[in-house]
Amino acid sequence: MVQDIARASSLASGRGQTSTTMANLKRSFNNRTCEAPYLIFLGPPGSGKGTQAEKLHQNFRLVQLSTGNLFREHISKGTELGLKVKNILAKGELVPDDLTIAMVMERLARPDTIMGVVFDGFPRTRDQALALQYRLDEKGKCITAAIQFKIDDDDIIERLSSRRMCPKDNTIYNLKSNAPKEDEKCDLCGTALIMRDDDKPDVIRHRLQVYRQQTEPLIEFYREQDMLVEIDAGRSIEDITAQLDEWMPMFIYNAN
Ligand code: AP5
Repeated sequence: MVQDIARASSLASGRGQTSTTMANLKRSFNNRTCEAPYLIFLGPPGSGKGTQAEKLHQNFRLVQLSTGNLFREHISKGTELGLKVKNILAKGELVPDDLTIAMVMERLARPDTIMGVVFDGFPRTRDQALALQYRLDEKGKCITAAIQFKIDDDDIIERLSSRRMCPKDNTIYNLKSNAPKEDEKCDLCGTALIMRDDDKPDVIRHRLQVYRQQTEPLIEFYREQDMLVEIDAGRSIEDITAQLDEWMPMFIYNAN
């Protein structure tokens, strides 16, 4: 575990030394003081993480830190990072940890994250989880809870094959369960909706495999630290939002 802490330190900050103790990394759920809610949404592709993260942003002003959206923005702007990751996203592979962690740390350094963040699609590997924990700890903050979105594979395929998104403001729609008011146009800005490149059936299957191999082990990682909360993500969007709204006062209370 000492090795984990040293690794987390160097991943998050590039430094080799750390004064973090195991006690800091392993605080019990009821005993944590995080200053603001820092929630992790953990779940397979299509489980509804982005949809609910957007709602927490609207309803509770948490910053929605979606690594998928950040990568897609880099790709559409043609940045150096965007060029590096374009094919990785199209194939449904994970972007290497060093690039992902650097992008997240840069976003976390902005002042708006002080009031709380919902991490949508991050962390996805143990090294990402350690880097995040170390960085928050360094700032006197911590993860309030890791919320596991539980859903069957059949529902995932069904949801992703009818997902559409706005390329301008990232609003998520579904032609069956959450359709836009006007035919395939964003309700908020009128932009024509798109289907994501990685929502093709063979790429969806591969993304699910990658999730099982590389991200699912994080469920135990957070359970062991008493941070895991499960949510039945097979229910309607409204039911899940209502459940999260009910939990939020507890998360805010626990954070302070
Ligand atoms: P990312 O964009 O994060 O994709 P993902 O995690 O695979 O998740 P999705 O966005 O596909 O699904 P979601 O759970 O957000 O579901 P949504 O709310 O949209 O990542 C894309 C890629 O970027 C990765 O493959 C990887 O290459 C790279 N990447 C990202 N993060 C990385 C990291 N940390 N490390 C390395 N690489 C990384 O909902 C899906 C659909 O269902 C929508 O149409 C929605 O309207 C509908 N829906 C939602 N909830 C419900 C409901 N309750 N009932 C019915 N329909 C619903």
